[in-house]
Formats: sequence, C-alpha cells, structure tokens
Amino acid sequence: MGTVNIQTDIPGPKSKELAERRTKAVVDAHSSVAPVYTAKAEGATITDVDGNVFIDFAGGIGAMNTGHGNPVITDEIKNQVDDYLHVCFTVTPYEPYVALAEKLNAMTPGDFPKKTLLVNSGAEALENSVKVARYWTERSGVIVFEHAFHGRSLMTMALTYKDMPYRHGFGPFPDVIHRLPYPYNRGKKAMEEFDSLLLEKGEESFAAVVIELVAGEGGFMPADKDFVAHIRKQCSDHGIVLVVDEVQTGFGRTGKMFSCDWYDLEPDIIAMAKSLTGGLPLSAITGQADMMDKVHVGGLGGTFGGNPASCRAGLAAIGQLEQLQASGRLDQLSTAIPQRLHALSEKSPFVNEARGIGAMYSLELCDGASEAKPSKERASEVLQNCLQDGLIMILSGTYGNVIRTLMPLVISDAELDEGMAILEKNVLSLS
Ligand SMILES: Cc1ncc(COP(=O)(O)O)c(C=O)c1O
Repeated sequence: MGTVNIQTDIPGPKSKELAERRTKAVVDAHSSVAPVYTAKAEGATITDVDGNVFIDFAGGIGAMNTGHGNPVITDEIKNQVDDYLHVCFTVTPYEPYVALAEKLNAMTPGDFPKKTLLVNSGAEALENSVKVARYWTERSGVIVFEHAFHGRSLMTMALTYKDMPYRHGFGPFPDVIHRLPYPYNRGKKAMEEFDSLLLEKGEESFAAVVIELVAGEGGFMPADKDFVAHIRKQCSDHGIVLVVDEVQTGFGRTGKMFSCDWYDLEPDIIAMAKSLTGGLPLSAITGQADMMDKVHVGGLGGTFGGNPASCRAGLAAIGQLEQLQASGRLDQLSTAIPQRLHALSEKSPFVNEARGIGAMYSLELCDGASEAKPSKERASEVLQNCLQDGLIMILSGTYGNVIRTLMPLVISDAELDEGMAILEKNVLSLS
C-alpha cells in the first residue's frame, strides 16, 4: 500500500465548506492552487481536513526542503517560544540572530569577510539588496532578466518580468530597471547583449545586476555558465554589485547548498528566504562586509526582522540540510529526479523539454506540434489530474506551462516513486 489515501471527492465536503467561508472573508486575489484545506503535514505528505493524504511535490513553493513537521526544527521553535518570542532586535538584541548571521556568513559562497541582515520575506531581501547596492555604488539602475521573479513589493515588482498577475495594474515602476533576455541557451549572444547595454548606458548607470541562476517562477531555466562567469567579471571591472537571488534555488534545492556552487560563483550579495527556516517567515541578505556596512545606522532593519524563533528554526534547518548533504541524499535526489523526468519527456510528444538543476527540475509542456508552442492547458490538466490522484504540484513559467518539482528533500524513495508514477500517468494520458 502506498502513501496516498484519497477517501472523498477532491475537494471533499469539509474543504468545500471552508471554501465557502473563504470566499466571503479572504481577498480573491490571494488564490490557491489546490482547493484542499490542510489539517496536518508531515515529511513530504499533506493530509487535508477530509482525511485525504497527498504526496507533496510543491513543498510550500520550495520553502519546506527540510520536510513538514521536522521534529529537530519544531523542537527548536518550541524552546524559543518558551524563552521569549519577540523583543525586537532593534530594541534588545539576542543570540539566535547573531548565531544565524555567523552561520550564513560562513556557509555562503565567497572567501571574504561578510555581514548579514535578516528580514522577513524574499521580496524584502531583494528590496534590501537593491538598497545596499545603491548606497554602496551611489548609482540607481538595476539590470534584470526576462522571466525573473523577485517578489511583489514595489521595487521587486519592477524587477519581476511577468505582467499578469504580478505587475498588472500596479505601476508605474522606477524607470531605472533595464531588462535583458534570460541567458538560457543563448551562448555568446547573451554576453554581447549585456556588454552593449553597459556600453550604451555607461557603468555609472548601474548599481546592481540581479539574477536567479535557475529562473524559478520563470520556468526552471538554468543560466548559461559562461554568461554567469562573464557578468561576474564585468560587475567586478565596472563596480556593479552582483546580487544572486537564491530565494528558491537555495538550501539544497539544486542538490548543492546554493545554486552558486554549481557555477563556482561568488556574488557580492546573496538573497535567501524560503527553505532557510523550514517553515517560519525569515529572509536574509549576506554580502561583502564593507558593502553591507556602508549604510548609515538605522537605514536597514524592521520590527520582526530576524525573529528569534525563525532564527533558531534557521539554524536547525541548515543543520538538517547539512546532514542530508553529508549522507549523499541530496546527490541521490538530484540524479534520480532529472533522470525520471528526462525518461518521461522522451515518452511524451507534449513535453518540449525536461530541465533544471538537481531536485529543482521541470517539464515544459507544449502542444505536440513540430514547432512546439507552450501549452498551459495541458500543464493545468496534468496538475488537476495529479491532485485527484493524490499528488500536489505547482506550475511555473512565463506561459504557465512548466510543471516543477519542489518536494521536501526528506521524501522517501517510496514516496518519490509513488508521486512520479502519478505524474507519469497523467502526462502520458494527455492527448
Ligand atoms: C526567486 C524568488 N525571489 C523572490 C521571491 C519572493 O519571495 P517572497 O514570496 O517570500 O516575498 C520568490 C518567491 O517565490 C522567488 O522565487
């Protein structure tokens, strides 16, 4: 017998009842992918209020790499709750913030002195990266890429690519954001485009380059290695701050602690959130110490930034990920998941390609014609059918046609196999 256990229609009666209350109380704009309401989540499974058990390939959008209800993490949280919960680091500081900053300074790529700021969300981490870069360079512009997603705050919407739903109707945005095509399979062209922009506008126009090394919401495309090496050099030569957004890619997702590790890349600032804590809101930026420390006192911070329970959860989550890495499990998963998705891609005319890095892998669905066009309809059909069969998944991609894997990395082989079998069945039944 497998893990999945579907006992009612999906959604079941209790989920339907909650949906009615939700419709009256919660803004429609905050949507949900799966209309099943959570009662409990453990490891790589979610049980809904009707008692149905699902395998989770979404991991709270990549925030649960250490698994739901990880006891090592929840124990740390409980202990911290008993000691004190919020005093505000701006008022009376505390050790867990310092300890997490020390840990992030040590574990992030780059053998140079670093400093860390803790805030609350991925968007806030990117906001602060741009603030620090502007302050350091005394310049204003930012180079970003097509298919980028960096958040929903005003500056990060400006950095983000997709109009609907992320930017639509929320402008105007700062006019100092310069966007280039995402460097996936573009070879030398991407480097030429970057160099032309630099030449045309002049280095004094740019405070920062902000990039995801695997475009997350944009469709799991890995950036070209040569391009990444090129922009590292160009940023150093022209005094531009290189910010890598590891919000989705970080903390073991790609099989290494950070996607930067695949590229031997040392960014000036690295933005982190999601799986940093195993489930509590917290984000961080870690960067070159002199850069981070140039900002005047009081220029960075926030009421809940570096919440002590989140910090302790973060230290515990990092410990858990280090163990998964040391045991070889991260490597195993980052071989097994791509292999399985490539094999599936070979069998279906509706998969244009399987791509990603490590356990951050995806299937890009198309219409099956020789000049393959993106097929959002087919991706949604697979998603809905997987849910009925007990597998929770989410999509990505500028055209909404990419099925992505963000399962907790504590998933067992049996659960992975069961989830993949559901996915395979529903991709292979497309017509
Ligand atoms: C790459 C990337 N950057 C930034 C964000 C924004 O993070 P948050 O939703 O925590 O603000 C996300 C969220 O999905 C992300 O994937």
